[in-house]
Amino acid sequence: MSEFWGSKTFCVVTGGSRGLGRSIAAEFSKRISPGSTLILLARTLPATDDTKGEILRVNPNCKVLGLGMDLMNPDIPKFEATLQKAVGDATSTFDQCVLVHCAGTTGDCTNRTVQYTNFSEIQYFFNLEVTSMLLLTSSFVKFFQGYAKHTTVIQLTTELTPFPRGGVYCAAKAARDSLMRSIALEEGEAVRTLSFNPGSCDTGMMDDAIASCTDQPTRQVLLDMKNSGKLLKPEVPVGKLVQILETNGFISGQHFDYEVVKD
Ligand SMILES: NC(=O)c1ccc[n+]([C@@H]2O[C@H](COP(=O)([O-])OP(=O)(O)OC[C@H]3O[C@@H](n4cnc5c(N)ncnc54)[C@H](OP(=O)(O)O)[C@@H]3O)[C@@H](O)[C@H]2O)c1
Repeated sequence: MSEFWGSKTFCVVTGGSRGLGRSIAAEFSKRISPGSTLILLARTLPATDDTKGEILRVNPNCKVLGLGMDLMNPDIPKFEATLQKAVGDATSTFDQCVLVHCAGTTGDCTNRTVQYTNFSEIQYFFNLEVTSMLLLTSSFVKFFQGYAKHTTVIQLTTELTPFPRGGVYCAAKAARDSLMRSIALEEGEAVRTLSFNPGSCDTGMMDDAIASCTDQPTRQVLLDMKNSGKLLKPEVPVGKLVQILETNGFISGQHFDYEVVKD
């Protein structure tokens, strides 16, 4: 198995404007070689500027592009045009390409699962979490086929145990885990995949969950964790993800929970 870090990498991070996606982009940029390219996707282009600045301070020889796109309504031709623009004529010069799916929201934390009645609301949530993830993955794999020596697709997921008001959120994450396992099965070593559950992190998404969750015991647990400083800073689980990738020795399709990854 080849080394993951230190090579010339083409990397796309969705949700690269803040939270875990921003931390992943920043930590990856410390470890990939000069001449690498990163694309940061968020709903608006300016939202990616801070992450871009952070990356260029650490690795000034990286090329960093922002891509504004709402993944509830994905524009795949625009995604492919951005890949083409970023690569130019140099597709064959990348040692590996990596796609990291971090974009996400809590969805609606006010409904019990059987209280979801709005077709569009469910559809848009699955567009973001599942449909877009699959479309971007297919497009990315096709684009780099025959060029990159190694392709890796990573998706942020959650624990697979349900929690109150998390029915639709957990269903979407379970679907993503399943897609990662299917790709691993079908593509073999050509496309390696992994699902990573970062644990409970102190991000905007967690603040949204605390503000809107109508299941009081769940909300209280999250609030207590927030107030007592027990929510993880994104760089903590991201450090574990960096460690998993270090040896590139994971089984493709595998699901990792932050808590069980040994230091
Ligand atoms: N935080 C946790 O405790 C936790 C636990 C388990 C799993 N996760 C997963 O980790 C991932 C990142 O979560 P986070 O906590 O870092 O959340 P966050 O801080 O709220 O960041 C979410 C990111 O997703 C982007 N995004 C949201 N809606 C989008 C849309 N419609 N189209 C394109 N981009 C969109 C946001 O960009 P803009 O707002 O700038 O557009 C932002 O960059 C999510 O998949 C989440 O489910 C988080």
